[in-house]
Amino acid sequence: MIKQIKTYIPGLDEILKGGIREGSSVLLTGPPGTGKTILSLQFIFEGAKRNEPGVYITSEETVENIRAYGMSLGMEFEKYEKKGLITIIPQLISSKKLVSIATPLSIIQSKKVKRVVLDSITLFDYLHSSGEMDYRKEVLEFVLKMKESGVTLLATSEKSISNLDEITYAPEDFLFDGLIILAKIRKGSSFEHCIMVGKMRGQDHMIDIFPLKISKNGIEVFPGELPFSLLEQDDMRSNKK
Ligand SMILES: Nc1ncnc2c1ncn2[C@@H]1O[C@H](COP(=O)(O)OP(=O)(O)O)[C@@H](O)[C@H]1O
Ligand SMILES: [Mg+2]
Repeated sequence: MIKQIKTYIPGLDEILKGGIREGSSVLLTGPPGTGKTILSLQFIFEGAKRNEPGVYITSEETVENIRAYGMSLGMEFEKYEKKGLITIIPQLISSKKLVSIATPLSIIQSKKVKRVVLDSITLFDYLHSSGEMDYRKEVLEFVLKMKESGVTLLATSEKSISNLDEITYAPEDFLFDGLIILAKIRKGSSFEHCIMVGKMRGQDHMIDIFPLKISKNGIEVFPGELPFSLLEQDDMRSNKK
């Protein structure tokens, strides 16, 4: 039996048929504004609430901004930082390496960390004048180091999606055990947030596209519903039959 850890994002564990395999690495990818950061914040916060220590590495925000973002969504990070259950590590994009691995590793050991977020890996892509190979090697190195230390890793990356039927995959997508895709789908003048699990190595999961809502309480996924933005396309398909 594989051991799974729950994301505790409402609805998501149902789609994942239990959760994420413990010790695996998952990439959360999608266009800007689709909920990658909020979902990552919840992953760490909900774990901490249940006494699972977490580390949040951010390359996009200051520590203060992360706390404020959490607060605006009802998550008081500082409360758990004080208890040693959450550590926020700012990863300056001016630094040469993707992640100076020493800091997270020592915190992982001393605080018995179970969950690690890296939000996001994309910024470094642009900064690496030395070429893509180095960038990918660093991502792989980071993923492997996290695996060795036994934590479950959730990393985010930016991906432009114009058509859900023709998602183009980046080489780094293949370095991860799991891939979760977030998107915003338009129908008429309305937009709808959606989620789909692209792959989860070594475990079963639901493969459909599900609607997702972002509110002041964070993200909620609806495994029992169809995205309204895709309904017409479904109707057209069934009419043709
Ligand atoms: N308090 C809130 N209430 C409702 N929606 C929100 C709230 N805060 C953020 N959002 C929505 O979440 C989106 C940003 O989510 P975020 O996780 O930061 O995106 P990204 O995928 O770029 O990391 C915003 O564009 C907005 O639509
Ligand atoms: Mg973000």
